[in-house]
Amino acid sequence: MDAMSLLRTKSIEQSLADTDEPEFKLKRSLTALDLTVFGVGVVIGAGIFTLTGRAAHDVAGPAIVISFVIAAIACALAAMCYAEFASTVPVSGSAYTFSYATLGELFAWIIGWDLILEMFLGASVVAQGWSAYFSTFLSQLGVVLPEAISYGGTVDLVAIVFVLVLGTLMTFGIKESMRVNLVLVAVKLFIVLFVIVAGIAFINPANWSPFVPEAVATEGASGLHQPLLQFLFGLPPQTFGVGGILAGAALVFFAYIGFDVVATTAEETKNPQKALPIGIIASLLICTVLYCAVATVVTGMVRYDELDPSAALAQAFAYHGQEWMATVISAGAVAGLTTVVLTLMIGATRIIFAMSRDALLPRGLAKVHPKLRTPWVISILVTIVVAITAGVTPIGTLEEMVNIGTLSAFVLVSIAVIVLRRQQPDLKRGFRVPLNPWLPGLSALICLYLMLNLPVDTWLRFLVWLAIGFLIYFAYSRRRSRVGQADYIDFAKPHVVAPPPGETPAGDG
Ligand code: ALA
Repeated sequence: MDAMSLLRTKSIEQSLADTDEPEFKLKRSLTALDLTVFGVGVVIGAGIFTLTGRAAHDVAGPAIVISFVIAAIACALAAMCYAEFASTVPVSGSAYTFSYATLGELFAWIIGWDLILEMFLGASVVAQGWSAYFSTFLSQLGVVLPEAISYGGTVDLVAIVFVLVLGTLMTFGIKESMRVNLVLVAVKLFIVLFVIVAGIAFINPANWSPFVPEAVATEGASGLHQPLLQFLFGLPPQTFGVGGILAGAALVFFAYIGFDVVATTAEETKNPQKALPIGIIASLLICTVLYCAVATVVTGMVRYDELDPSAALAQAFAYHGQEWMATVISAGAVAGLTTVVLTLMIGATRIIFAMSRDALLPRGLAKVHPKLRTPWVISILVTIVVAITAGVTPIGTLEEMVNIGTLSAFVLVSIAVIVLRRQQPDLKRGFRVPLNPWLPGLSALICLYLMLNLPVDTWLRFLVWLAIGFLIYFAYSRRRSRVGQADYIDFAKPHVVAPPPGETPAGDG
């Protein structure tokens, strides 16, 4: 095997040309507003409804607000890199396609594989969270579901039916999915604003003191559960303090995940050069403001060590005798988490679509339905896998796995921005990250640093996921890849025809 072929690239021009093949052509119907709604719809979810309480209670105290700001800075830098790429290569597949054009096929495969982890596992984790909130909401209305078929039971039938309904919607059409999204996003925004405004009256500033609780040694953060950085440098296992703020940032990063999914809809967007940067950056901005406000209000309402780690928002109001608010918040969470799962599932199908179109995964999967114009085979496949994972596996607390998959993609995309600026400085870009290479470089470093603050067991699971990815790549994708075929001609480099096996490729990579 010659090492250069691992770095073979697919030109941007070719990626754009591929989107015009009638068999694989998606419908362009989305606007900047659609994308912002889509972004907010996928970002605000389990992170703010459940993780905020857990992170404040377990690792950061009121300083969780700072964790939110740190995570937002990492995301803002990465968002700019995504915006630059999405406005340059408006092709389905997001970071996967960007890196295929710059870093080469092996990196593209790794990113695609990481994004599948992010979106498929994210959808499954949030679907379980949805099922939990749905049961709580129904019980608040006096309806109790049988334990065996709801959240925590042997088979979570509620989660399965939920995923199947969303899967049908997504297969039917993206515009239809967006309409449902719009209504649910409005409900979700209303609830989050309601928590902020109604909560202000119950704030006791004494709860913010100490703002950064002193670091304490803890059993809970030892062994495989401690951050990798702590483990590598043999630091004593502890939570809170400055280390707690950073570990908190690595955890609440989950709450921001999703703005990058906006980039996966590039091929279905009208005027993508303008609409994509607006959609990505606007949705991140809106969510950052809301998150910091919610975290400030909630830790002001209840002392951090008395917060309920599983449902802090609802409990903060119950704590002040406002039980009815708990019901309203559960209803908001049910609406809110729906859009997260729907969007992550759409994102997963679009990544797999792009990878199959390039034949790194079976090409037949990428067929677009002649009438619906959606990649229906992949949609059905993703629906079934997410339904099974959410319904019968205990993955409810694997948010950090989703984080590590996303952060690793962010690192590679940030590096790819610098690489593409060098390789093709004159390429038309709808949006440019300022201060290149410093800002993209900083973006890669911060994301890497957050990754190092994730627990050791998350790293181990991630390495296993990567190992499976490499296995598939070397056993299947590398040989099947369209770019590697003897008759493959790249539009931008017509002279570059892949040589017969055994010869060195000319000028590619
Ligand atoms: N950001 C999404 C959530 O918090 C994944 O649910």
